[in-house]
Amino acid sequence: MSAQLQVHLLPSLVDAGTLQGGVAIVIDVLRATTTIAHAFHAGVTNVYPIADIPGALSLADEFRQSGESVILGGERGGVAVPGFDLGNSPLEYSWDKCQSKMLIFSTTNGTRALLHAKGAERIVTAGFVNFSAVCEILLEEKRPIHFICAGSNGHIALEDTLLAGAFLAALLPHRPVPMNDSARLAWDAFECHGLVLTEALKLSAGGMHLQSIGLGDDIELCAEVDRLMLVPEVRYDGKDRPYLEVGSIGIERRLWPGK
Ligand code: MLT
Repeated sequence: MSAQLQVHLLPSLVDAGTLQGGVAIVIDVLRATTTIAHAFHAGVTNVYPIADIPGALSLADEFRQSGESVILGGERGGVAVPGFDLGNSPLEYSWDKCQSKMLIFSTTNGTRALLHAKGAERIVTAGFVNFSAVCEILLEEKRPIHFICAGSNGHIALEDTLLAGAFLAALLPHRPVPMNDSARLAWDAFECHGLVLTEALKLSAGGMHLQSIGLGDDIELCAEVDRLMLVPEVRYDGKDRPYLEVGSIGIERRLWPGK
């Protein structure tokens, strides 16, 4: 029997066939899936994840020509892309810049992980910032659940593994089902580092990189548990392009398994 709770420590470790019929939780704590949650909180109407910069620029043109109000956001190497309106720092996504706008978003790893999840029947994005909101919908799910960690340029990322482990710690008491070996590793990592989350994120390769480019303040925001009660979820437009929109979560339970 295939495991009901699976962690994939990198997108390349899972294929579309495995995701079929399942629910994918895409995780890029530092920083794409954290920033996406902040962007929705700041009022964007939807988010188009785009793999490459030319694709993002041309989609923005297309939408602008049809009269849409669009902003471009994302990064390469952690810094804002020339010609984009915003970078990938959660706090850049403020109400005055985002309200009622569409966001075209392209980052190094996170948006690609999101596009890689296309085989799944349902796809949502998660950070520590919307942990309990994502848990709420997972507690209702009967389908296999796949946590897809974006990693960093093909390397496993501690922060993504920790969030996957936190989800397991929260879900397993309610859903004691088989899990794969990467899930056990992620769970163990969370048991070990979950109490010192911010410090663990600072010590991770991604965290060190952010500090080295002067964006260390983002780490604390990305480690903030349950700041936002929303779940971005993938839908498809008339041209079969995936975009994210947010369903509201009525219940405000804290399901965080840490202290
Ligand atoms: C990514 O998608 O690769 C990340 O969000 C990188 C970053 O921290 O900007």
